[in-house]
Amino acid sequence: MATVLAIETSCDETAVAIVNNRKVCSSIIASQIPVHQQYGGVVPEVASRQHVETINQIISSALQEGGKDWTEIDAVAATCAPGLVGSLLVGLTAAKTLAVVHQKPFVGVHHLEGHIYASYLSEPDLEPPFLCLLVSGGHTSLIYVKDCGIYETLGETRDDAAGEAFDKVARLLHLGYPGGPVIDQLASQGNPDAFPLPEGRLSLPTGGYHPYDSSFSGLKTAVLRLVQKLQQETSELPVNDIAASFQETVARSLTKRAIACALNYGLKTIAVGGGVAANSGLRKHLQDAASAHNLRVLFPPLRFCTDNAAMIACAAADHFNRGHTSPLTQAAQSRLAITDVMQLYKTS
Ligand code: KG4
Ligand code: ZN
Repeated sequence: MATVLAIETSCDETAVAIVNNRKVCSSIIASQIPVHQQYGGVVPEVASRQHVETINQIISSALQEGGKDWTEIDAVAATCAPGLVGSLLVGLTAAKTLAVVHQKPFVGVHHLEGHIYASYLSEPDLEPPFLCLLVSGGHTSLIYVKDCGIYETLGETRDDAAGEAFDKVARLLHLGYPGGPVIDQLASQGNPDAFPLPEGRLSLPTGGYHPYDSSFSGLKTAVLRLVQKLQQETSELPVNDIAASFQETVARSLTKRAIACALNYGLKTIAVGGGVAANSGLRKHLQDAASAHNLRVLFPPLRFCTDNAAMIACAAADHFNRGHTSPLTQAAQSRLAITDVMQLYKTS
């Protein structure tokens, strides 16, 4: 039963959590969203500086809220890939320093493996194999979860990630950053069938379409064209209907691919992870389709969908329990495929 303190600083949240295997003792998140909002998106240099300013306070708060002192912590973990390198470095350096000072093993974690592990926090009895639909600001993937550290990517986006599409559409509608929550909220007051939008499909050289890969850049362009056309026809843009139609198209597209993938691979459970897992349209579509096909679908609570350190600590605890620790020379990496997670560990 490992107790792990983990740090997550891959993008714009400074987060520290303490987890005992799959049970959360504390989870503190300092969001930088208000800082980046004025620029309309995350500014990497600003993000790194914010992490530096906040990290010590967040570590103290996590220890205090979890009621733990260092004698009760078995390992220190940090996200080391993928993400903004300057941001990753802050959390990684803090975690390595704490590991050295308190003489604890260090466990590096892949950010996307963290998103997969978010489902274990609310469903501690969940066991592989299952399918993970990972939909965040940077990634959209269908991942076959075979075991801790053992993953196969069955589908992914060929261009924009689902969250990125929400953010870009919000920007063109002047709704601010991040786009997902505001579009979700406006969509609840709009008509999802108001404007038919194209679902991105990818042709296969052998004919037909790729069953699991997705594409969202065409959809974003279609929304742009629609907005330009409507602006010529009307003085007041039907923002709620545009948001609802866009969200409906994304939710339908993701649901179709996830269900087809689970059925074809004989996987009975779909665990959803990443910020877009918070989306109410996706939740409803996937839930309905899963029930119709007798599949189980798991959505983590909202606080574990978007970036947090509890999911990182949970992944780290599972690796640590299996004897996987990382060298203190482990670097921050902007990119690392989920299929290469085991590169982060030396086994004892
Ligand atoms: O997982 P996450 O916190 O960070 C990454 O690892 O990327 O995901 C952030 C993304 C953003 O693009 C944001 O717009 C989107 O998740 N998001 C949502 C919702 N809440 C956050 N997208 C759709 N609906 C939401 N309710
Ligand atoms: Zn994330």
